[in-house]
Formats: sequence, structure tokens, C-alpha cells
Amino acid sequence: MIVIDDLHKSFNGQYVLRGVDLTIPAGKITVIIGPSGCGKSVLLKHLICLLRPDRGRVLVDGRDVGQMGSRELAQFRRRFGMLFQGAALFDSMTVFDNVAFPLIEHGGMTAEQIRQRVRRVLALVGLPEIGHKMPGELSGGMRKRVGLARAIALKPAIILYDEPTTGLDPLMTDAIDKLILAMQQELPITSVVISHDIASTFRIADQVAMLSGGRIVAAGTPEAVRQSTDLVVRRFLEGKSNPETDETIEV
Ligand SMILES: Nc1ncnc2c1ncn2[C@@H]1O[C@H](COP(=O)(O)OP(=O)(O)O)[C@@H](O)[C@H]1O
Ligand SMILES: [Mg+2]
Repeated sequence: MIVIDDLHKSFNGQYVLRGVDLTIPAGKITVIIGPSGCGKSVLLKHLICLLRPDRGRVLVDGRDVGQMGSRELAQFRRRFGMLFQGAALFDSMTVFDNVAFPLIEHGGMTAEQIRQRVRRVLALVGLPEIGHKMPGELSGGMRKRVGLARAIALKPAIILYDEPTTGLDPLMTDAIDKLILAMQQELPITSVVISHDIASTFRIADQVAMLSGGRIVAAGTPEAVRQSTDLVVRRFLEGKSNPETDETIEV
């Protein structure tokens, strides 16, 4: 379980997070939604201490992430799989080598064990025959799936997905959604998904939390959040406007 407690973060005097409180239950899919630029990626980075809070803390299974030393932190991060925006693959390496990379870096596995694990995770993301290909030969959706295979290669307890479907067509979005759900059934994983795709959010979430104005303005089951009477939440869910900039958002 992850507990985010009164998290504050500003950059150059500009507040991004100003008191985020959220509990992320183990073994479930929590989707964090909110308008572009509201601090979703910043929040996610605090979970693995890629950013340190100005105030407040993040507890993972009771341990304060911000208080960890560098050795402990390196150990701790191995429990996480991360699929960042853009799913940056190494372009000069084959798909196989991309997925094998964290396994080799982690150490302790024979070449044969690595080969088997890579084949298994590529099959799990529905791409069994592409190990020999280069990332440049793949579609955007396939690259995301390879990124996902790499993220799960070390059997993480927690997976962080930063906008896994942004920029994908509806078919590919659907495929990624199904994959996130399938992974949840296959492995005892805690998933934290950042999204600004409302339809996708309600397809996959056990819990939805909305970030706006630097705070969580609604959190709960998809049904509860859908029925929220909070104006900011309503307008966001209806896709009418971006509550922070008042721009129209495309859904
Ligand atoms: N490392 C950084 N240094 C300065 N400003 C940052 C940094 N990371 C994010 N920001 C700012 O924080 C705000 C929230 O960014 P982000 O979390 O990426 O938004 P989103 O909700 O779209 O993921 C933006 O205004 C962004 O410019
Ligand atoms: Mg982001």
C-alpha cells in the first residue's frame, strides 16, 4: 500500500502540488486523472523518489521513501516497473536487448533464464515474435507494449504507467487497457496509471483520483467519482473544459 501524505512541491516558487493526500491500495488499479500540466507526472515521480517533496511524505508499505539512503533506494526501486510517457526504448538495440536490459543490469540470471523471461513477457504483451526487430520498425502501440514488457520483466510489485495511451488510436488504446487489466489478473500487482483519457480511465480503474489545483479533489470508486457533485470534477469528466486554464480539452 502507498500512502501519500500532505505532499507539497513547487518549482522556482511556483506551486505544483500543495497538499496531496491519497491512499493507493495494494493489488488494485488506481487511475489518477487531471488536466494537462496539473502535476500528475510530478506526483508519480515522488512515488519512487525521482523528485523529493518540499513538505509531506510518501510511505510505501510503511516506509518513508524520502528518507531512504541511496543504497536502500536502489533496492526499493527494483520493486517498481515504470512505463514513462514516450516509452523511451533504446533505438540502437533490438527489442530483445531492450527487454533484457533491466534483467542483465539486475544480475543473477543465466543467459538462458534471461532468454526465457524475455520471451515470456513479450508473449504476455502480445508480441511473441518480434525480439529480433529494432524499435524503429515498430508502430507506436507496439513500442508502448515493448516498453511495458521491459517494465514487467523484473516482476515488479508496483507498476507506474504515465499516460500509456496518449497519442494512440482508439483500437490501440483499447489494446493497452486490456493489457493493463490482463496484467492485473496474471500477476499480484499494484498499478498506478496516469491518464487524461476519461473513457479509458473508467474501463480499467478500481479507484479513480482527480488531481486539480495541486490537490486531490475527488477519490474513490469509479461510480463515486462519476457521481461527484464537485464542479471541477464534473466539468472535467464531461470534457467541457480544462478547469485550470479554461481551454477546451479533447476527449
Ligand atoms: N523538473 C521540473 N522543473 C521545473 N518545473 C517542472 C519540472 N517538472 C514539472 N514541472 C512543472 O510542473 C507542472 C506540472 O507538470 P507535470 O507533472 O508534467 O504535468 P502533467 O499533469 O501534465 O503530467 C508543469 O507546469 C511543469 O512545467
Ligand atoms: Mg505528465
